[in-house]
Parts: sequence; C-alpha cells; structure tokens
Amino acid sequence: MSIAVVILAAGKGTRMQSDLPKVLHPLAQVPILAHAIRSARFSDPEKMVIVAGHGFSQVAKAALEFAPDAIVVEQAEQLGTGHAVAQAKSALEDFDGDVIVLYGDTPFISEDTIAAIQSARRSSDLVVLGFDAADPARYGRLVTQGDVLDRIVEFKDATPKERAITLCNSGVMAAKASDLFSWIDQVGNSNASGEYYLTDCVGIARSAGKTATVVRCDEAETLGINSRAELASAEAAFQSRMRCEMLDTGITLYAPDTVFFAYDTVIGRDCIIEQNVVFGPDVTIESGATIRAFSHLEGCHVSRDAVVGPYARLRPGAELSEGVKIGNFVEVKNALIGEGSKVNHLSYIGDAEIGKGSNIGAGTITCNYDGVFKHRTTIGDNVFVGSNTMLVAPVTLGDHSMTASGSVITKDVPASDLAIARAEQVNKTGLAVKLFDMLKMRKEKQNSEKK
Ligand code: UD1
Ligand code: CA
Repeated sequence: MSIAVVILAAGKGTRMQSDLPKVLHPLAQVPILAHAIRSARFSDPEKMVIVAGHGFSQVAKAALEFAPDAIVVEQAEQLGTGHAVAQAKSALEDFDGDVIVLYGDTPFISEDTIAAIQSARRSSDLVVLGFDAADPARYGRLVTQGDVLDRIVEFKDATPKERAITLCNSGVMAAKASDLFSWIDQVGNSNASGEYYLTDCVGIARSAGKTATVVRCDEAETLGINSRAELASAEAAFQSRMRCEMLDTGITLYAPDTVFFAYDTVIGRDCIIEQNVVFGPDVTIESGATIRAFSHLEGCHVSRDAVVGPYARLRPGAELSEGVKIGNFVEVKNALIGEGSKVNHLSYIGDAEIGKGSNIGAGTITCNYDGVFKHRTTIGDNVFVGSNTMLVAPVTLGDHSMTASGSVITKDVPASDLAIARAEQVNKTGLAVKLFDMLKMRKEKQNSEKK
C-alpha cells in the first residue's frame, strides 16, 4: 500500500510566547518539525504534504530543508484540524493509497508505532493512535467498545461521563485517501470551539458503516509540545533516551547527564565520551575514539582511535582520520586531518588539508579568510609546523617540510625544506641591565620632584 503522510503544522502555538512558529523551536538541535518528518519517513511515504499557516514562509523553508521532496500547502486561516487536512486534498488528487496524519508538534512517534498503524489498517478502514493518559486533561477522548472505535469527543464537548475516559486521542490517524477526504467534506463546525475537527471523521465513518479501531502507544511517544516547559521536558526525555541507547550499545559516558546529543548523533562501540560534551547535528564518531571533556562537535566525522579535546571544537566539514589527536582549545572547520596527525594546542585549522603523521605546533593558525574570500591551506605528510606559525592561505607545505616557530608563511614551502619567516634575532651585550638601571633612576628622580 502506498502511503502519503500529511503533517499538520499551521497552528500558532500561542503558549510558546514566541515570535518563532512553534514547530521551528529546536529540539535535539533541529526544529520540532524535523522530528515529525522523521516519524513520517518510517512509513516510507510516496508523498509528504506539510500544512503550514502561521509563519508560512519560515515553516515552508524549514520543511523543505528536512524534506526536499515534500509539498508544502498553506492553511491561511486555522479553522481546525479537519480543515487543515482538507488543505492537502488537491496535492493528493491523483493519489489513491493511504493517508497517515501526523502533527508537526508531536516529535516522538516511533517506527514500531507507525508499523502497528499500517498493519491495523489491513483490517480496519480507519485507525486512530490512542494512549492511556496519566492525566487526560484536555485531550480528545476515544469512545470505544473493546478495540472498536465509535467516535472521538473533544474535551470541551464531552459529558462528565465521557471526560472520565482515560483513553485519549494522540491525533495520529490513518485511512484510505479517498475515504478520509470524503469524511472530511462532511465535517461541520457546530461544536464548543467552532472548529472543523478532524476527530469527527470517526463518527462519520462509523455512520457510513466503515470500521474503525485504536492502536495504542506509550504516552511518552505522543507527547505534544505546546509550551516552553513542554519543550524542555521533551528535550530531557530525548536526551535521557539517547544516553540509555548509547550506554546500551557499548559507549562509555563518564557522566551521562552532562552529555547532550543531537537527533542524528552516531557513535561506534567502545568510544569514551567524557563530561560536558555537546553534539550538534550530523556527527559520526567511529569505534574506539575518545571525546574528552567540554568539547563541542557538529557536522564532523571522527575516525577510529582519534582523541578530541578536552575543550576542542569541531565544526562542519571537520574530517579526522584514524588516530588523529585534536587537543585543547583547537578549532577545526572544513578540514581533513590525515592519519595520525596531531594538532594539540590552541590552534585554528580551517579550509585545510593535512596529510599523515604531521605535527601542527601550538598556536598555529590557518589564515583562511581575507575578509571577502576563503582560501585553502595544504599541508603534506610528516610536516612539522613550528609553534605560532601563521599560514597565510592559499599556501602549501610540501611533505617532510618544516616551519620555524613564529613564522608568517606566505609562500609555498617545497618538500623537505625549512621555512623561516621572521625577523632575525640580535643580542646586545649587557643592555638589559643598563636599560633597567636607567629606568629606575628616572623613577627616583620623578618621586623626589613630587616631594
Ligand atoms: C487535537 C485533537 C485532540 C487530541 C490532541 C492531541 C482535534 C479536534 N483534536 O487537539 O483530540 O487529543 O490534538 O494533542 O483534532 N493545526 C493546524 N491547523 C489548524 C488547527 C491545528 O495545522 O487549523 C495543527 C496544529 O499546528 C497542531 C495540530 O494541528 O500541530 C493539533 O492542533 P491543536 O490545536 O494543538 O489540537 P488540540 O486542541 O490539542
Ligand atoms: Ca495540542
């Protein structure tokens, strides 16, 4: 069965108290919406339609960044979840598979749950994802007889007896596209909120003799984000799950609570992650590497047995080969560091390529930016760059070459050469003591004049 996923993301999110549309607030380093897109992908959809409204252009831009194949449709006025799904109708005109509706503000729907919904659809015309709520609060209630779903009643419209039901609506729903859109056409808005409720589809489907059922999941999965407090709990829930997964898959975390992962962090077995390490998006660490305390990594790849930090920063495009050492207060950006090379102290390596077995001395800087253009630095194999060398790019250091400490290198250095680019030293005999005596006398004279 081919699948189209419709993600509802037009709501304002008033309770966020923010100028930023709710679904764009970051969770595990990416917009909340990116998590919903990830859940959508679990169904291997043929089409993805994202319904945006508040902050349309911003939401559309983010949606296409994480789902370039998606169709973004506008719901100019937010008249309810049923009205929102109706906006996807024309985009799915020629589509005759199943539609799964997800919410853009509900980030944790799992692969297993999506699979359970798809499998329940084989024997039921309409499938709704429900959960037993610890505190059902204002969720829609699922009115059932066994696993048969009769209707959904919104909290505002529910009787006291219906409000006592703890089985609640997650918002996720699946049905054949043609069925779903025909039911939505029949949804009205004469209810306590004056909105077109998607949830009314259940009663409409049942009256038309269709079958409806509930798939249940854990409440933690259906967590929807409406406020900053809920965003913070979602972040905490994500981090705690990731930390457990990392520990379970053979990674040592000295202080798990101080390590922060992104939604897509990948770490191999037998890595050690020390305290207070932060992972931005798109990081892969291979087996046996060590990330020492207080390091920040994003958009980078760290190969086996490399050691990073403490206090290191790896930025997008940092590619460390096997056994590389990146030490304290070193920043690496868009640079390939070859096998076994070391950049151990206080350096900036950007837009560069370093070969194998090279040693980059303390305080070395690749001067890659002239204020307008970026330039590349190329360093060969077994090069020794002296401490505090400024490598003014574009520049190349050949294999086995060396630079003298404190050099400002502006010209290429041929293989095996030593480059010295600093003023020559002159020693003046006894001048230090003479100078000092002269200064002390001057001070004494000033003091006696004041008296
Ligand atoms: C909805 C359900 C409720 C369920 C709850 C789960 C309805 C009528 N109610 O209520 O049964 O228990 O979710 O969280 O469906 N949206 C749009 N356009 C709109 C309205 C909403 O895109 O016109 C989007 C929102 O951005 C959000 C999602 O739909 O992502 C849910 O909307 P929200 O207003 O939060 O629904 P609830 O009142 O929470
Ligand atoms: Ca909600």
